Amino acid sequence: MSNTWFLTGALGCIGAWVTKTVLDRGDRAVVFDLGGDARRLRDLMDEEALARVDFVQGDITDGAAVRGAMEAAGVTQVVHLAGLQVPFCKADPAAGARVNVLGTIHVLEAAAAMGLQRVVYASSAAVYGPPEGETPPDESAALEPTTHYGVFKRANEGNARIYFQDGGLSSVGIRPLTVYGVGRDQGMTSGPTSAMKAAVLGRPFEVAFSGATDFNYVADTAAAFVEAALRAPEGAHVFNLHGDSVQVQHILDTIARFEPEGAKGLGITGPELPIPPALEGSALERALPGLPHTSLEDGIRETLDRFRALRDAGRLDTRDLD
Ligand SMILES: NC(=O)c1ccc[n+]([C@@H]2O[C@H](COP(=O)([O-])OP(=O)(O)OC[C@H]3O[C@@H](n4cnc5c(N)ncnc54)[C@H](O)[C@@H]3O)[C@@H](O)[C@H]2O)c1
Repeated sequence: MSNTWFLTGALGCIGAWVTKTVLDRGDRAVVFDLGGDARRLRDLMDEEALARVDFVQGDITDGAAVRGAMEAAGVTQVVHLAGLQVPFCKADPAAGARVNVLGTIHVLEAAAAMGLQRVVYASSAAVYGPPEGETPPDESAALEPTTHYGVFKRANEGNARIYFQDGGLSSVGIRPLTVYGVGRDQGMTSGPTSAMKAAVLGRPFEVAFSGATDFNYVADTAAAFVEAALRAPEGAHVFNLHGDSVQVQHILDTIARFEPEGAKGLGITGPELPIPPALEGSALERALPGLPHTSLEDGIRETLDRFRALRDAGRLDTRDLD
């Protein structure tokens, strides 16, 4: 029997790719999202695939709505991605707490009440503070977030642990850092992907942070969430997601190799990120051996190719560049 996946926030970047990944498995996807715009899914899949997705427009701050939708769908797997990103939490911390913390409680609570085995949810590298020394932090390193968003993600990790302690609900919190790829158009670290989009349009664009960061290709990120939901060990786990740690300039140089004319207007401005530039990710590899790792070169090339195809079809959304 195929699985039924409950995917919160799956109209967003990572969620669109998770939806694609579970559809490619032949499974059923139920997308629970506040928004009504499926453009990021359309960027990745044709109308036939999209027609196989069940959409529930709902708000994770409404616990009854979350539980009702999960029960009605008869879900077997839960991937919880709905959330407000760093700039939105900074602008409205109360809304950030309601969506990111209370919303996560609602998902955990509903899963526990339904007797589900496990919830996989998006934590973040933002649980860490600025880098301390050269060594990438592992999961035992101190957590001193410098943003409300990071504090909320840290709270979610604690709450997931208590749900396992008190009721045996297993969970995996995955901590990506800078996710890139088609669909990444908002958040503190979306600039490198917007630069790829700007290059295929030949438009100027400044990435608003500098220095090095850990780049996670979105297809690999989605695979990590899906595989964790299918085969993570019992317990309340939190795993760093390590990709490729390079300077933002290296990304721009790689874009320029593939799109030399269009990349001429790309630049970098702004400070380094207030989180470590690299995460130690071996615990996830040990827990879930065989996760895919797309090279930076291939990830950037695939992203540029898809952006060109969308541009040529007149469907490239440019709101992040405007
Ligand atoms: N993108 C990254 O680099 C990155 C890094 C670390 C962690 N994360 C986390 O991964 C998750 C997904 O990230 P993303 O880049 O896909 O985000 P995104 O901003 O592209 O998508 C978030 C989705 O959540 C939905 N949402 C917001 N509030 C909601 C609510 N109250 N009820 C239901 N849905 C709601 C939005 O409509 C949107 O579709 C988030 O929790 C984010 O904090 C992302």
